Amino acid sequence: MKLLEEKIKNEGQVIGTDILKVDMFLNHQIDVNLLDEMGKEFYRLFKNKGINKILTVESSGIAIAVMTAKYFNVPVVFAKKSSHKNVGNEVYSAHSHSFTHGKDYEMIVSKKYLSPTDNILFIDDFLAGGNAAFSVLDILKQSGANLVGIGIAIEKGFQDGGKKLREMGIELQSLAIVEGMDETNGVSFREQGSETRN
Ligand code: G4P
Repeated sequence: MKLLEEKIKNEGQVIGTDILKVDMFLNHQIDVNLLDEMGKEFYRLFKNKGINKILTVESSGIAIAVMTAKYFNVPVVFAKKSSHKNVGNEVYSAHSHSFTHGKDYEMIVSKKYLSPTDNILFIDDFLAGGNAAFSVLDILKQSGANLVGIGIAIEKGFQDGGKKLREMGIELQSLAIVEGMDETNGVSFREQGSETRN
């Protein structure tokens, strides 16, 4: 998605060789019009697939998921992160680890909000190693819900989460795939096929 790539090029900040800071439009301050365009694009990519619910992970995924859900006219469920290991029987839970933040956590979703009749689109802001996505897959498996696809705003293509998920046959659509980055030369993107001119 050209609009997102331009925004990353103009406003993103590369830290070292593997962290892209996008606090000014996605992770701290939110550019609502940009997120609305992202929601519209996810709708274009996944419409007519019977999606009845959007799942994301707190916190940064929520805004994109909500904008997307407006186009699908479906509810959003967000997985919560708990530092407690003992999360009870009323929730599906999966252990996860954030490399970026160096923390372990339990990802939890109430059993009330996922069921085998659900067709789920999982939306998130970043895909790096795929830890969050694999925990979501674990939770979906426990619930019996069907994963229709995954929509990611920014995939770091030089980390292996995207490769692993595509090899599993999952329909993964990323609006921008960062192929490489460094503090001097900035960010380069992977060419992608079927996108609209926005
Ligand atoms: P993974 O889930 O794909 O394996 O990635 P990792 O453990 O490294 O990511 C941990 C958190 O950091 C995730 O957010 C992820 O979205 C975010 N992240 C990963 N790489 C980058 C990056 O280059 N830039 C930015 N801005 N974020 C990145 P989270 O823990 O769920 O945090 P949040 O949603 O509460 O912000």
